[in-house]
Order: sequence, then structure tokens, then C-alpha cells
Amino acid sequence: MRRTVIAGNWKMNMTPKKTAEFIKALAPMVAGKDKCDIVLCVPAIDIPAAVEAAKGTNIKIGAENVHFKASGAYTGEISAEMLVEAGVEYVVIGHSERRQYFGETDKTVNLRTLAALEAGLKAIVCVGETLEERELGYTETLLKYQTKMALTNVKAEQLKNVIVAYEPVWAIGTGVTATAEQADEGNGFVRAAIAEAFGNDAAESITVQYGGSMNDGNAAELLSKVNVDGGLIGGASLKTDKFTAIVDAANA
Ligand code: PGA
Repeated sequence: MRRTVIAGNWKMNMTPKKTAEFIKALAPMVAGKDKCDIVLCVPAIDIPAAVEAAKGTNIKIGAENVHFKASGAYTGEISAEMLVEAGVEYVVIGHSERRQYFGETDKTVNLRTLAALEAGLKAIVCVGETLEERELGYTETLLKYQTKMALTNVKAEQLKNVIVAYEPVWAIGTGVTATAEQADEGNGFVRAAIAEAFGNDAAESITVQYGGSMNDGNAAELLSKVNVDGGLIGGASLKTDKFTAIVDAANA
């Protein structure tokens, strides 16, 4: 019933040329594997090359961020309209690296989410606790708070275009993966927050991904959990064989 979404997050990796080569190599490897949606979220400069290379394939292209204003004096930023016109379908919002290094707050995450949804983009909204927050016992409180804040003023009918990615900050890029049980529990807290804010039907139908060192070795176990409806994958999305193995796990 819930759609499984396997999304790569390339972060600040790959050039336009490498992007085209990567997608040309990946396309035949994931062709016909339609039990999940397959998305690559790429740096803004790589978007035209990615969209072009993905034409006629089952790979969809996402961006890694979007600004919340429609246009104006915001040097260096990219609007939702620009992304849509470039052929982008998904956008990552509120990644912990943006929160950590670029001053992203729950408020700006919310504004970006609203702008993305208004433009018809699918928003992959990231939430997650730091190790300190986990050790203090705040994981559930924090995940529910971040989820509700990110989705404030989102209309019920827009929720079909929302994916929430639970990404424990301590598991991102560290090689330390949450156990399947921790992932399932975290995703469950996200789903409970959706239930509290939007009702049980909404909670049952929303896709909640896990992210944080998901790879070809652990994807099958993570994806087997009832609350894990896909993955947001950093490092392993930069290798066609590893990314394909994760797609395969979602298609098993
Ligand atoms: P990782 O990144 O898979 O390299 O840990 C995940 C993410 O940041 O989305």
C-alpha cells in the first residue's frame, strides 16, 4: 500500500559529465525494477545532465535543496519553479548537513517544504536526532517535534507528495548504521507524529524512509521492517552496483 522509495543523495559529489555517465550505466541495471520508485537527488549544477540522461528510464531526478521564496534578491538560491522547469520531481529538504552547516532551522525547513509542495514537487523531508539527544532520551520527542514543525500548514491533500526520511545524525556518513530495530522505532515515531497531526489514514499511507549508512549489505534487513518504506542513501548511491543492490533489496 505504501510506496517504497529508494533515493540517492549525492551531496557535493559528481560533475555534470560524471552524472551523465553514471545514469547511463545505472539505467539498464535498474530497468524494470518497479516495486519501488528510484530517485537520484543531485547537485543543482548536475540537474540538466541528470534529467537528460534519465529520459526514457525509470530513474527520477531530485534536487538537494530549494529556496522558499518564489524569486528575488537571494543570491545563490534556487526556486521551486526553477527546479520544476528543469525537470526535477523530488527535493531533499532539511538534511542534517544543511541544519548543521548552513543554519537550516525547523522554521526554514517548513517554509521550504511549503514552497516545494506548492510548486508540485515531492518533498523528502529529513528529521533525525544527534547522538547526544539520543543518549539524553529525547529521540521520540525530537522526531515528533521536527516532523510536526516541518509539516506545519501542509494541507492534507498535499501529504501524498511528502516523504519523511528518518536520518539519525550519528549514522550519517559514519559507517555506523542504526540497527533495523532502531530504524523501525525511529520511523514509527515519525509515523506517530503524522497520525497525531493528520490522522491515522495519513500515517498509514505516508512513505517514511530510513537514511544513515544504508548500503548493499544492510538494506534488505532495514527494508524488511514494517515502518521502513525505503531509503535515503548517501555514500552507497555514488556506486552503480551498490545502489542497484539496494534497489534489488526493495524489489525482492
Ligand atoms: P550516508 O548518507 O548513506 O552516506 O550515511 C545518508 C544521507 O545523508 O542521506
